[in-house]
Amino acid sequence: MRQPLVAGNWKMNGSRVSIEVLLGGVKSGIGDVKVAEVAVCAPAIYLPQVQAQLRGTPIAWGGQDVSTHESGAYTGEIAASMLLDFGCKYVIVGHSERRAYHLESDVTVARKYAAARAAGLIPILCVGETLDEREQGVTEAVVARQLDAVIELEGVAALADGVLAYEPVWAIGTGMTATPEQAQEVHAFLRARVAGQDAAVAEGLRILYGGSMKPGNAAELMAKTDIDGGLIGGAALQAEDFLGICTAANGR
Ligand code: PGA
Repeated sequence: MRQPLVAGNWKMNGSRVSIEVLLGGVKSGIGDVKVAEVAVCAPAIYLPQVQAQLRGTPIAWGGQDVSTHESGAYTGEIAASMLLDFGCKYVIVGHSERRAYHLESDVTVARKYAAARAAGLIPILCVGETLDEREQGVTEAVVARQLDAVIELEGVAALADGVLAYEPVWAIGTGMTATPEQAQEVHAFLRARVAGQDAAVAEGLRILYGGSMKPGNAAELMAKTDIDGGLIGGAALQAEDFLGICTAANGR
């Protein structure tokens, strides 16, 4: 059985004060979360605060990006070992905003996956098509290419150390959620693609859905066979909404 994971992606939001309040709220309601593992991915500069607030709770935390390099002259970059130094368990790699605004290629993302894995972090690998790509009917080709880049660099067994997140770009922050059927179709495709190389890895792989997931649609999405949780942007910034999604997994 795959344990569902609900991970918040705060993106570039928050302040010391707002994070104090948000995590206070999440901590006070976490007792109602029976099934899902819960994590928050914070802007790196706030990780010491997140660690201080979450240490000793069942809530894990992580970064939103990581360098492909171990250390050295890479101004502005953050190494996997640094994230680990502040107690991170997870790190998001290949979010569509990084791919689009920071021109991260599939190969760069695969190298980030490798760097995170080598350090002992659990990478959350994001894949997803744009609206244009969906309309052209190339959704499967796009997510396959993004997934294959990691398999080519690291081998299929490397997926046993990570989490996959299907995030249709057109659904991110738009309020336009993929229907449970649309999401399930891609999740099943991704799992089958991994199964083609290693059935056991595919069976154990958690595939999260991301893109305007909310308390109101989380349960029906997570009810689908191949949807093992969510990567939550906007709704992760309010404790009540985030907890609503985390508890929606109770029915699984
Ligand atoms: P959203 O973002 O929930 O605000 O759509 C999801 C994500 O980008 O991870």
